[in-house]
Amino acid sequence: MSSGKYVEKVLIEAETIQKKIKELGDKISKDYAGEDLVLICVLKGAVVFLSDLMRSLDIPVEIDFMAVSSYGAATESSGVVRILKDLERSIEGRHCLIVEDIIDTGLTLKYMKEYLLSQLPASLKVVALLDKPQRRKVDIAPDYCGFKIPDEFVVGFGLDFNERFRSLPGVCVLGDKL
Ligand code: IMP
Repeated sequence: MSSGKYVEKVLIEAETIQKKIKELGDKISKDYAGEDLVLICVLKGAVVFLSDLMRSLDIPVEIDFMAVSSYGAATESSGVVRILKDLERSIEGRHCLIVEDIIDTGLTLKYMKEYLLSQLPASLKVVALLDKPQRRKVDIAPDYCGFKIPDEFVVGFGLDFNERFRSLPGVCVLGDKL
């Protein structure tokens, strides 16, 4: 029986991630040139991505944070989302970009978009570092995406398994310890 987890392989190297974030930053800076942008980071997984992405932008931005949790089993999103921490400032009339670590079933993002749209932002888009399109349960896609990955559970670069592995510099696949 499995007694834990270990890193089986690096799926995306730290250097590759940094190059991609630079590309995303250039594109986002161009698209929002002259606009007033709020980056909305979804805690905790997207923190590492946010900190690199915001420094790759050459436009002024504000940042704010939300924390949400899905009801249901830990590895399966149920679509019923509870807000653990809300935004600190109003987003009415502001251009907003949700910064997500990974889109899996899409249920969390669908809920977040509906919730944020009800607060009447000027616009609302999504940037996700990782996307697992094979797992999708609702028709939703990020406006900006770093990497599409296969249906594997990944950790590192902010992503966790039971709060572990967030500090790994690359995106890694876990294996089972015997
Ligand atoms: P969704 O509602 O199924 O799209 O779930 C999105 C959230 O589930 C992400 O923001 C992550 O916190 C978590 N998640 C989904 N897949 C993974 C994974 O492979 N590794 C770590 N966390 C994941």
